[in-house]
Order: sequence, then structure tokens, then C-alpha cells
Amino acid sequence: MAQINPADVPKVTLGTGEQIPCVGMGTFGSDRFSPAQVSAAVAGAIRCGYRLFDCAACYGNEDQIGEVFQAAFDEGVVERKDLFIMTKVWNDMHQRVEESCEKSVRDLKCGYVDMLFIHWPFPNYHAPNCGVDSRNPDSKPFSAEEFASTYRQFEALYDRGLVRNIGISNMTIPKLEAVLPLLRVKPAVCELELHPCFQQKELFDYLTEKGIQPVGFMPLGSPQRPERDICEEDIADLQVPELRSIAASHNCHPALVALKWARQRGQIPIPFSVHELEYVSNLKAMTEDPLTDEEMAVIATLERNNRLVKGQVFLWEGANDWHDLWDEDGFIVGV
Ligand SMILES: NC(=O)c1ccc[n+]([C@@H]2O[C@H](COP(=O)([O-])OP(=O)(O)OC[C@H]3O[C@@H](n4cnc5c(N)ncnc54)[C@H](OP(=O)(O)O)[C@@H]3O)[C@@H](O)[C@H]2O)c1
Repeated sequence: MAQINPADVPKVTLGTGEQIPCVGMGTFGSDRFSPAQVSAAVAGAIRCGYRLFDCAACYGNEDQIGEVFQAAFDEGVVERKDLFIMTKVWNDMHQRVEESCEKSVRDLKCGYVDMLFIHWPFPNYHAPNCGVDSRNPDSKPFSAEEFASTYRQFEALYDRGLVRNIGISNMTIPKLEAVLPLLRVKPAVCELELHPCFQQKELFDYLTEKGIQPVGFMPLGSPQRPERDICEEDIADLQVPELRSIAASHNCHPALVALKWARQRGQIPIPFSVHELEYVSNLKAMTEDPLTDEEMAVIATLERNNRLVKGQVFLWEGANDWHDLWDEDGFIVGV
């Protein structure tokens, strides 16, 4: 297997001064890849030089990934301190954050987590694999007080040292404006959907200005996302002619152009793949052949508001449609 020296992978400095790799591996197997396939890819990724992993309790594979981490530690492939392990608290555990975190730490066999995320900013819960039209009657609009109460449990775990950094995810500027003054420990990063046709420029700039590092999920436009997340109007980012033309001039796959753009713009992409050739090339792309300023400028024009994770299943009774989740008119809908 091709190996990339982790020391050659550029680092990003968080607000705390801590350095983390500029790319990580996603571990959401969607409905298509089994926990065994995902954990085998994690094993290969560690060996090829990845040090940052994006996990989540709700991905249903943390115990298998933990076996892989344990084996890598036991075999001396990597030391725990050299991995940056991120995981997330799912919506149904907002009142039981400690229990969720302790389970993830146990499953991942990692002693502590480098980043614990609030996966979504509200407790609206849906059964795994439910259809997009299903609604949970308990779902409610966002509440800043509820968020702060969940976040305080994160801060307690931070004080205890079980969590080294706190992350937020799937936020909007109005929600950030409402909650940031209520938080004692500033979030180190925000995970948000980012790919060439969905650049979220305003939110990206807001986070950067606040010293909160953006982490970009679905950096390739998630061509294997679950069936329920595919809509007719969605654009396939990697098929866009401008991106393909830049890829041709670099003699590489458009996926690698999307990742180079992400890094050079300043977000940390977390691409997923179970295929060795792909995940090796995704890491290697960070170490060579950058895009030119002109190519970066072309990709900046590819914004198409192509949101792929719309979040329909989190809507509350009385909400119009999924746009209500994203506060597009500059205020928190439903409050
Ligand atoms: N915080 C959140 O709410 C949230 C939401 C969604 C995702 N995430 C995180 O973000 C991660 C990434 O998102 P994602 O997995 O949905 O989408 P993605 O990384 O944009 O796309 C993954 C797919 O791209 C293809 N691919 C990967 N590398 C490639 C390469 N070098 N060349 C060609 N194709 C390549 C693979 O498809 P093939 O198998 O067809 O090759 C793979 O299944 C997730 O795994 C998860 O950790 C977080």
C-alpha cells in the first residue's frame, strides 16, 4: 500500500493553538457500506497515513472501528496521542451526553475523544432508516436554552478531560448568534456541508471570523448518499464541466480537485471511501500539485445552493418544509 508520511500532510491550527491534519476520513457507511467494510477502510487509512477520523454514535460502527484502533495501538502502527478522533452525540441523547460520550469512548477504545460534536442543534429524533416524509410528533423548533443546557454537559466532559475539544454541526448564523454568548467553552470547530456547488460562503466567513474552524462534510457531493437524501434537483458536483476540466489539466479525478479546493479555501474536508485507491489518493492530493489562484477563482463561481442533506425528518408539526431548518431569511424559524 502507498504510504504518505503524516508529517508531510499540512496541518490546520485550531483557535486553541492545537494542530490537526488538513484532511480526515469520514466513516458514515450510509446504507451501502457495512461496519466491517468501513472499519477495514479505517485500518487501511491509518496504515497509509491518515490521523484524523470523523466518527459518530449514530453511524452504528464505532465498536468495529474501535477494534481497528485497538489493534493499531497494540501493533505499534500508531500511538493514541497521534490520532485525532472525533465523534458525535446523536439527537436522542441531548439529555444524556455523558452516557453517550462514555459509550463512544468505550466503543472506540480510545480513552478520550479529541472532539465531541453536537451532531444536530436540536433533539428532534427520527428512527434509523425512516422515510423522508416521516415526522416525529415530539419534534420542536430550535431552542437556544435547550441547546445551552446540552452544551453545558459537553463543557463538564471538557473539564473532566474526557473531551479535548467541543464541536458543533449543522448550524446557521442566526442559531450561532443566539447561542455563542451562552457558551463558556468556545466551540473549536463547526462541521457543515461544504462542496464546490454548496459553499455556504456567508456561514464559512462568519465561522472563520469567530475563530471557529470549518470542517466540511460531503466534500465530494456524497455520490453514495442514502437513497432518501437524493432529490431530482440535486447537482452531481463531480460532473460539473468546470471541475472536470480542471481535473483533466491536473490529470486527476475531479474528487481530488474538490479536496484540493477545500484545503486551499481553508476548510478541513472529511471524504469517505472504502476503496484503497481512492482514500490513498485523497490523502496524497493534500501533499502535491495545488490548484492555481485562477482555478480556485473558477471553482468559487460554481456555487449552486446545492444542499444535499436537507434534514426533512427533523421537521416539527407546523413547519412548512425543510427550508425552515436552515433559517434562510436570517431569523430562527418557529421561535
Ligand atoms: N455532521 C454531519 O451531519 C454529517 C453529515 C454527512 C456526512 N458527515 C461526515 O462526512 C463524511 C463524508 O461525507 P459522505 O461520505 O456522505 O460523502 P463524500 O465524502 O462527499 O463522498 C463519498 C463517496 O465519494 C466517492 N469517492 C471518495 N473518494 C473518491 C475518489 N478519490 N475518486 C472518486 N470517488 C471518490 C466514493 O464513492 P464510490 O464508492 O462510488 O467510489 C464515496 O462513497 C461522512 O462519512 C461523515 O463522516 C457528517
